[in-house]
Amino acid sequence: MTVTIPQEEIEKQYRYMSEIKQINDVCFAKNNVRKRAIVRNFGCQMNEHDAESLSGMILQMGYELCDSSEGSDLIIFNTCCVRENAELKVYGLLGALKKMKKENPDMVIAVCGCMTEQPQVVEEIKKKFKNVELIFGTHNLHRFPELLCNCISNRKAVYETSHTEGEVAEGLPILRENNIKAWVTIMYGCNNFCSYCIVPYVRGRERSRDSAEIIKEIQELEKQGIKEVTLLGQNVNSYGKDKINPEDPESSKEMDFADLLTAICENTKIERIRFLTSHPKDLSDKLISVMAKYPAICKYLHLPVQSGSTKVLKEMNRRYTKEQYLNLIEKIRMQIPSIAITTDIIVGFPGETDEDFEETLNLVEQVRYESAYTFIYSKRQGTPAAEREDQVDENIVKEHFNKLIEIQNRISREINDTYLGKRVKVLVEGKSRTDIKKYTGRTQENKIVNFESDIDVTGRIVEVEISNVQTWSLDGNKYLTEEI
Ligand code: 5AD
Ligand code: SF4
Repeated sequence: MTVTIPQEEIEKQYRYMSEIKQINDVCFAKNNVRKRAIVRNFGCQMNEHDAESLSGMILQMGYELCDSSEGSDLIIFNTCCVRENAELKVYGLLGALKKMKKENPDMVIAVCGCMTEQPQVVEEIKKKFKNVELIFGTHNLHRFPELLCNCISNRKAVYETSHTEGEVAEGLPILRENNIKAWVTIMYGCNNFCSYCIVPYVRGRERSRDSAEIIKEIQELEKQGIKEVTLLGQNVNSYGKDKINPEDPESSKEMDFADLLTAICENTKIERIRFLTSHPKDLSDKLISVMAKYPAICKYLHLPVQSGSTKVLKEMNRRYTKEQYLNLIEKIRMQIPSIAITTDIIVGFPGETDEDFEETLNLVEQVRYESAYTFIYSKRQGTPAAEREDQVDENIVKEHFNKLIEIQNRISREINDTYLGKRVKVLVEGKSRTDIKKYTGRTQENKIVNFESDIDVTGRIVEVEISNVQTWSLDGNKYLTEEI
């Protein structure tokens, strides 16, 4: 059952934020420079959104946010543990900070996020990185002000990771990075236990936020001028299921995900709605109809397949076959012909044979994804797949991985080629980072479009004609006057 953290607890955290702010303000009055803090983020959109919360709290505490560890008074690593590489990178960076901490002993280095929800990782950090003085997890992120206050006032290391995982925090400060698009978390955790994945162990069981809180947040964002929201959850299609009381399923039934989308479309005027991530086994016919019905819901779907082999899918505990996945794609395309579909694929799952991999290539050719996030299988301690003896030879995995990328790149390019000469609607996010003469934005299908314009069109949805095509983006003709 989902429990919202009592308001008194959140108010207590605001008091800790004020306490630290007072200390920082005194320092500012004395030295005329603000204490500086940086959040180094790793991993998925969930983490990016948590980093926005951390940044919001940091500003509330009177720090100035900066983008370099050099000269920082507070460095926070918001970590990811989905693959080993992300963890190794954090260890490397922590090691590199040892010298800096010696030179500036008052600096606080904090590590939080998914890595610190694994007890063996916490032990490793405590043992090897004495420069880390604050460790907290994903379930107690809202307690960051109190933990930092204890750390600073008592000048002692604070480690707190295990906490009740059925709780959801509302009302914490947040610093949104973008004033056109915003993330909105609708649920936390995952119940699926795919056999390769560490997420259910570090993010806990599924907890849905109250639909009224979600709608209120989106209405607020709309007032602030936000044009697009992306609803976030490890598996948004199980939204609301945790609220159902097994003893009395009918009367305790709340909104499911399709109902939530409908309520957002009916009660807000937000121009674009996206969502991430959908598990194929839970994607309902009702959701497809709702997506088809409301123009504000982007005709874009990220639908991770992970493998094209029914045998591997079974061993991954994905609970669908290759055929069921292909049928689902067909059903979606029948109702929403213009839909853009992307996916996640893992190469080198234990026991994956050449034939299994061929099945994946065959599926990729059949579905023709707009793009695919491809990952080499990474052994994660504590997951069932890590126990397997039949790990695939590294060289074979690399060879397969490169082949998959080559095929997907060709398909992505071929799909982009069909855009040449078409007019597309682009939500403009601002000036391009690589070419200051150009503006950049995305289509409903999530395609990046770069184009020139005589006037500032940031935040508007404009129609652009595609004049040139690349594998990862589209170039538009100069935008003149027309507006949708
Ligand atoms: N190894 C490689 N990729 C993984 N993913 C999750 N766990 C692993 C792992 N152990 C990938 C899946 C998931 C995406 C977010 O990360 O494809 O959809
Ligand atoms: Fe991991 Fe599977 Fe849950 Fe996705 S659905 S977070 S891959 S366990």
